[in-house]
Amino acid sequence: MYRRIAIITGASSGIGKAFLELLARDNGDLYNTPFDEIWAVARREEVLAGLASSVEGVKIVPVAADLSEISGIKTIEDKLKSEEPKVGLLINSAGMGIKGTVMDKPDSAITDTISINCTALSLLTRAVVPFMKSGNGKPGIINIASSAGFIPQPNFAVYAASKSYVISFSRAMSYELKPLGINVTAVCPGPVRTDFQRRATEGREDDFTDWRKNFVEDPVKIATVSLKASRKGKRMLVYPFSQKCLHLASKFFPTSGILCFSGNLK
Ligand SMILES: NC(=O)c1ccc[n+]([C@@H]2O[C@H](COP(=O)([O-])OP(=O)(O)OC[C@H]3O[C@@H](n4cnc5c(N)ncnc54)[C@H](OP(=O)(O)O)[C@@H]3O)[C@@H](O)[C@H]2O)c1
Repeated sequence: MYRRIAIITGASSGIGKAFLELLARDNGDLYNTPFDEIWAVARREEVLAGLASSVEGVKIVPVAADLSEISGIKTIEDKLKSEEPKVGLLINSAGMGIKGTVMDKPDSAITDTISINCTALSLLTRAVVPFMKSGNGKPGIINIASSAGFIPQPNFAVYAASKSYVISFSRAMSYELKPLGINVTAVCPGPVRTDFQRRATEGREDDFTDWRKNFVEDPVKIATVSLKASRKGKRMLVYPFSQKCLHLASKFFPTSGILCFSGNLK
């Protein structure tokens, strides 16, 4: 008898944690729940263990893995091969970016961003798909991209480029995986109230401080609309309306104007 599971990367905080808590208490309103287990992936084992003991409604299985390393992806791959669950949902939410000019950054700020945001997301997708089977609705993959992926962003160049990759990769995978009945959704939020900004500014700012502070969304809202979009089979979710405007503008404004705008973002 198969166990039907969901896998969430970046489950220890922010948007990933919001997904975890929503799925645990969902009774079919948001997604094709219930799952027998949710595998919660992140580096901080003690945080995952805390979630496993405090979140009610579903069994949370902590999976400690550093996704900047191939060995972290292998940990999940090996667990899938040995337990052979049926995966109903993969959420790639783990992500990072470090603000500042590329010339000022150490190698690790660049390689870790690309490894986690692009390489791990792609390799995990490939590792999980063979375990995805229909049952209680179509299986789904939700990739957390960003509206940063719409435009090149000086002072956050590697992050913005990595999110362009996530959007492009997700769209192509939605086509490749269609014959298997798997929905792939790229989610593009603007600023969200999580640990992200503190980490991105290496502790200098706890939250968005410029004009974007007026557009900061709640992670639970982002997770809610993402689950609904995935269940509907949407290829891309740009949320909220302010980000839809940015998306539209990115298609029409000349690159020089866009760079002038994005180069002034902090
Ligand atoms: N917040 C925003 O403004 C915003 C806007 C648009 C898109 N996003 C995207 O949303 C996603 C979630 O970010 P968030 O806002 O929820 O930020 P967050 O609160 O900082 O969460 C990031 C998550 O990624 C995990 N992670 C980081 N490095 C990792 C590694 N090497 N290996 C495994 N897990 C790792 C962290 O867990 P551990 O530290 O425990 O490993 C944490 O659970 C990211 O992809 C981000 O790019 C965020």
